[in-house]
Amino acid sequence: MYNLDNDIEKILFSQDVLKKRCKELGEELSEIYKDSCPIVTGVLKGASVFFADLVRELKCDLVFDFITVSSYGLKTTSSGVINMRKDFDNDITGKDILIVEDIVDSGFTLKYLKNLLYERKANSVRTVALLNKYECHPRELDTDFYGFKIENEFVVGYGLDYAGRYRNLPYVGILKRSVYEKKDEK
Ligand code: PRP
Repeated sequence: MYNLDNDIEKILFSQDVLKKRCKELGEELSEIYKDSCPIVTGVLKGASVFFADLVRELKCDLVFDFITVSSYGLKTTSSGVINMRKDFDNDITGKDILIVEDIVDSGFTLKYLKNLLYERKANSVRTVALLNKYECHPRELDTDFYGFKIENEFVVGYGLDYAGRYRNLPYVGILKRSVYEKKDEK
Protein backbone atom coordinates (compact mmCIF):
# COMPACT_ATOMS: atom_id res chain seq x y z
CA MET A 1 0.00 0.00 0.00
CA TYR A 2 1.27 3.49 -0.82
CA ASN A 3 2.35 5.28 2.34
CA LEU A 4 1.20 8.90 2.11
CA ASP A 5 2.97 9.83 5.35
CA ASN A 6 6.33 9.22 3.68
CA ASP A 7 5.70 12.16 1.36
CA ILE A 8 5.28 14.61 4.23
CA GLU A 9 8.21 16.79 5.26
CA LYS A 10 6.68 18.00 8.50
CA ILE A 11 3.33 17.86 10.27
CA LEU A 12 2.12 21.40 10.92
CA PHE A 13 -1.20 20.71 12.66
CA SER A 14 -2.00 17.34 14.18
CA GLN A 15 -5.47 15.82 14.48
CA ASP A 16 -5.68 16.89 18.13
CA VAL A 17 -4.65 20.46 17.38
CA LEU A 18 -7.16 20.70 14.50
CA LYS A 19 -9.95 19.33 16.68
CA LYS A 20 -9.23 21.83 19.45
CA ARG A 21 -9.17 24.77 17.04
CA CYS A 22 -12.45 23.67 15.40
CA LYS A 23 -14.05 23.61 18.82
CA GLU A 24 -12.84 27.15 19.57
CA LEU A 25 -14.04 28.48 16.21
CA GLY A 26 -17.33 26.66 16.72
CA GLU A 27 -17.89 28.39 20.05
CA GLU A 28 -17.10 31.82 18.61
CA LEU A 29 -19.34 31.34 15.56
CA SER A 30 -22.19 29.77 17.55
CA GLU A 31 -22.37 32.95 19.60
CA ILE A 32 -22.43 35.15 16.49
CA TYR A 33 -25.23 33.13 14.88
CA LYS A 34 -27.23 32.38 18.03
CA ASP A 35 -30.26 34.36 16.79
CA SER A 36 -30.14 33.50 13.09
CA CYS A 37 -30.09 30.42 10.90
CA PRO A 38 -27.09 30.92 8.59
CA ILE A 39 -26.46 29.09 5.34
CA VAL A 40 -23.15 27.46 6.15
CA THR A 41 -21.51 26.92 2.77
CA GLY A 42 -18.56 24.65 2.07
CA VAL A 43 -16.38 25.40 -0.95
CA LEU A 44 -15.65 22.03 -2.56
CA LYS A 45 -13.53 20.10 -2.53
CA GLY A 46 -10.84 21.41 -0.22
CA ALA A 47 -13.12 22.58 2.58
CA SER A 48 -15.01 19.28 2.89
CA VAL A 49 -13.10 17.88 5.87
CA PHE A 50 -12.91 21.15 7.80
CA PHE A 51 -16.59 21.79 7.05
CA ALA A 52 -17.59 18.40 8.48
CA ASP A 53 -15.67 19.00 11.70
CA LEU A 54 -16.63 22.65 12.10
CA VAL A 55 -20.39 22.21 11.68
CA ARG A 56 -20.41 19.63 14.45
CA GLU A 57 -19.01 22.29 16.77
CA LEU A 58 -21.70 24.81 15.79
CA LYS A 59 -24.53 24.69 18.30
CA CYS A 60 -26.81 27.17 16.54
CA ASP A 61 -29.59 26.47 14.06
CA LEU A 62 -28.21 26.35 10.49
CA VAL A 63 -28.56 24.88 7.01
CA PHE A 64 -25.89 23.43 4.70
CA ASP A 65 -24.95 24.40 1.18
CA PHE A 66 -22.00 23.47 -1.05
CA ILE A 67 -20.52 25.27 -4.01
CA THR A 68 -17.65 24.58 -6.40
CA VAL A 69 -15.55 27.35 -7.84
CA SER A 70 -12.44 27.24 -9.95
CA SER A 71 -9.84 29.81 -10.84
CA TYR A 72 -8.17 29.85 -14.21
CA GLY A 73 -4.43 29.72 -14.60
CA LEU A 74 -1.72 28.54 -12.27
CA LYS A 75 -2.21 29.13 -8.56
CA THR A 76 1.05 31.05 -8.29
CA THR A 77 -0.02 33.48 -10.98
CA SER A 78 -3.73 33.54 -10.22
CA SER A 79 -5.50 35.91 -12.57
CA GLY A 80 -8.33 36.42 -10.13
CA VAL A 81 -10.84 35.18 -12.70
CA ILE A 82 -13.12 32.84 -10.79
CA ASN A 83 -15.73 30.58 -12.32
CA MET A 84 -18.73 29.13 -10.45
CA ARG A 85 -19.02 25.44 -11.37
CA LYS A 86 -21.70 24.46 -8.89
CA ASP A 87 -23.91 27.24 -7.59
CA PHE A 88 -25.75 27.60 -4.26
CA ASP A 89 -28.87 25.48 -3.92
CA ASN A 90 -30.40 27.99 -1.48
CA ASP A 91 -31.96 31.36 -2.24
CA ILE A 92 -29.54 33.90 -0.77
CA THR A 93 -31.79 36.97 -0.49
CA GLY A 94 -31.89 38.30 3.07
CA LYS A 95 -29.89 35.36 4.45
CA ASP A 96 -26.82 35.22 6.65
CA ILE A 97 -24.05 33.31 4.89
CA LEU A 98 -20.98 31.70 6.40
CA ILE A 99 -18.48 30.60 3.75
CA VAL A 100 -16.21 27.77 4.88
CA GLU A 101 -12.84 27.45 3.12
CA ASP A 102 -9.82 25.27 3.71
CA ILE A 103 -7.34 27.99 2.79
CA VAL A 104 -7.14 31.64 1.78
CA ASP A 105 -4.18 32.18 -0.53
CA SER A 106 -4.43 35.06 -3.04
CA GLY A 107 -7.82 35.91 -1.52
CA PHE A 108 -9.49 36.09 -4.95
CA THR A 109 -11.94 33.26 -4.27
CA LEU A 110 -13.32 34.86 -1.13
CA LYS A 111 -13.44 38.29 -2.77
CA TYR A 112 -15.44 36.85 -5.67
CA LEU A 113 -17.84 35.04 -3.34
CA LYS A 114 -18.42 38.05 -1.09
CA ASN A 115 -19.16 40.31 -4.08
CA LEU A 116 -21.49 37.74 -5.58
CA LEU A 117 -23.42 37.21 -2.36
CA TYR A 118 -23.90 40.92 -1.73
CA GLU A 119 -25.10 41.31 -5.33
CA ARG A 120 -27.63 38.61 -4.52
CA LYS A 121 -28.77 40.65 -1.50
CA ALA A 122 -27.45 38.49 1.30
CA ASN A 123 -28.09 40.03 4.72
CA SER A 124 -24.55 39.25 5.88
CA VAL A 125 -21.52 37.36 4.56
CA ARG A 126 -18.74 36.07 6.78
CA THR A 127 -15.87 33.80 5.87
CA VAL A 128 -13.92 31.25 7.86
CA ALA A 129 -10.82 29.53 6.51
CA LEU A 130 -8.86 26.86 8.31
CA LEU A 131 -5.55 28.19 6.99
CA ASN A 132 -4.56 31.76 6.27
CA LYS A 133 -1.56 32.35 3.98
CA TYR A 134 -1.41 35.85 5.35
CA GLU A 135 1.60 36.96 3.29
CA CYS A 136 -0.09 36.09 -0.01
CA HIS A 137 -2.98 38.57 -0.04
CA PRO A 138 -3.57 42.17 0.99
CA ARG A 139 -5.33 42.92 4.26
CA GLU A 140 -8.60 43.89 2.56
CA LEU A 141 -8.91 40.39 1.06
CA ASP A 142 -8.42 38.65 4.38
CA THR A 143 -10.87 36.14 5.82
CA ASP A 144 -13.05 37.16 8.77
CA PHE A 145 -12.10 34.10 10.84
CA TYR A 146 -9.34 31.56 10.46
CA GLY A 147 -7.86 28.59 12.23
CA PHE A 148 -4.14 29.17 11.75
CA LYS A 149 -1.79 31.54 9.97
CA ILE A 150 0.78 29.77 7.78
CA GLU A 151 3.79 30.75 5.72
CA ASN A 152 3.74 30.37 1.95
CA GLU A 153 4.36 26.63 1.97
CA PHE A 154 2.94 23.68 0.05
CA VAL A 155 0.50 22.15 2.51
CA VAL A 156 -1.67 19.07 2.07
CA GLY A 157 -4.02 16.95 4.15
CA TYR A 158 -7.30 17.51 5.99
CA GLY A 159 -8.96 18.31 2.65
CA LEU A 160 -6.03 20.03 0.95
CA ASP A 161 -4.60 18.29 -2.08
CA TYR A 162 -1.71 17.98 -4.45
CA ALA A 163 -2.99 16.81 -7.88
CA GLY A 164 -6.16 15.55 -6.18
CA ARG A 165 -4.30 13.40 -3.64
CA TYR A 166 -3.44 13.64 0.08
CA ARG A 167 -6.86 15.09 1.04
CA ASN A 168 -7.52 12.11 3.30
CA LEU A 169 -4.53 12.67 5.58
CA PRO A 170 -5.97 13.44 9.03
CA TYR A 171 -3.43 16.21 9.67
CA VAL A 172 -2.07 19.24 7.77
CA GLY A 173 1.52 18.82 6.67
CA ILE A 174 4.12 20.26 4.33
CA LEU A 175 4.60 18.16 1.20
CA LYS A 176 8.17 17.11 0.44
CA ARG A 177 9.56 19.19 -2.38
CA SER A 178 10.82 16.01 -4.10
CA VAL A 179 7.20 14.84 -4.60
CA TYR A 180 6.07 17.74 -6.76
CA GLU A 181 9.43 18.52 -8.37
CA LYS A 182 9.67 14.90 -9.56
CA LYS A 183 6.14 15.09 -11.02
CA ASP A 184 6.65 18.48 -12.65
CA GLU A 185 9.65 17.16 -14.61
CA LYS A 186 7.54 14.48 -16.36
C1 PRP B 1 -8.26 26.25 -3.22
C2 PRP B 1 -8.98 26.48 -1.90
C3 PRP B 1 -9.72 27.77 -2.12
C4 PRP B 1 -8.83 28.52 -3.09
C5 PRP B 1 -8.04 29.54 -2.34
O1 PRP B 1 -9.14 25.60 -4.10
O2 PRP B 1 -9.84 25.42 -1.59
O3 PRP B 1 -10.99 27.56 -2.69
O4 PRP B 1 -7.95 27.56 -3.70
O5 PRP B 1 -7.15 30.22 -3.20
P1 PRP B 1 -7.20 31.80 -3.43
O6 PRP B 1 -7.27 32.46 -2.08
O7 PRP B 1 -5.90 32.04 -4.13
O8 PRP B 1 -8.38 32.13 -4.29
P2 PRP B 1 -8.69 24.77 -5.39
O9 PRP B 1 -8.93 25.59 -6.62
O10 PRP B 1 -7.29 24.25 -5.17
O11 PRP B 1 -9.74 23.57 -5.41
P3 PRP B 1 -10.07 22.45 -4.32
O12 PRP B 1 -10.80 23.14 -3.19
O13 PRP B 1 -10.95 21.48 -5.03
O14 PRP B 1 -8.77 21.84 -3.86
